[in-house]
Amino acid sequence: MPVAIEWWRPLALGLAAAVLFAAGALAQDAALAEKLQLCGTCHGEDGNSKIEKIPSLAGQPAFYTLNQLFLMREGVRKVEAMATIVKDLKDSDLTALSEHYAKLAPRRSDEPVDPELAKRGRQIATQQRCGSCHLPTLAGQEQMPRVAKQRIDYLVEALKSYRDNPRSGADTAMSPPVGGLRDADLTALAHYAATL
Ligand code: HEC
Ligand code: HEC
Repeated sequence: MPVAIEWWRPLALGLAAAVLFAAGALAQDAALAEKLQLCGTCHGEDGNSKIEKIPSLAGQPAFYTLNQLFLMREGVRKVEAMATIVKDLKDSDLTALSEHYAKLAPRRSDEPVDPELAKRGRQIATQQRCGSCHLPTLAGQEQMPRVAKQRIDYLVEALKSYRDNPRSGADTAMSPPVGGLRDADLTALAHYAATL
């Protein structure tokens, strides 16, 4: 009965393919987990940074994170602390990392917020129309980052840099809204964003 031996062939092939596929996905998961652990040492295990001047990544639009990782890998945005880490990442890693952080819940850092400064920051944000790009909740969209619940010390630095000396590769959209603002205004904006 020569046909009888053959019946299992498609099943075995199907099973082998399924096992190989699962092994591939597991290996990928493990590699991603390893990378995430490294990122977490600086950006916080849950994507909310506890370290001074290191930004939180939780709840950041995936498009923004992907864009920034790409710019860093290509050496356009220079972040010394991350240079050796990003240089070997593949496009698929950048996508997986960005999507991972977009899904995490953003949490306020434990930096103290000054309510008076936050109030003033809210007025400046309205006047400068920050919400027209970052959304009124400042949660960000597309290539425009989440600012809400970001670390205050990081925000102050980032805003100063857009005003005084934009980082290379930075979108020029940010220069007009902060142009002409004083340091105290930028601090107020950072306190406001932290309360959202
Ligand atoms: C040794 C600490 C360190 C490690 C590890 C690290 N980063 Fe960073 N990362 C930083 C610092 C510092 C900055 C802020 C640089 C600046 O001020 O512009 C940053 C900035 C970023 C930004 C830009 C965020 C923004 O709001 O513009 C992204 C995205 C990012 N890191 C993702 C990652 C990912 C993903 C990993 C893991 C593959 C990682 N980082 C590992 C220190 C680190
Ligand atoms: C015309 C659109 C637009 C307006 C208005 C705008 N932004 Fe932005 N903002 C952007 C874009 C685009 C980026 C990403 C820039 C880059 O590539 O570095 C950005 C980046 C930022 C960042 C960097 C965040 C990070 O994680 O590194 C902060 C902080 C920020 N904006 C705050 C503000 C505040 C506060 C205002 C109002 C004073 C404002 N923005 C107004 C478009 C805008």
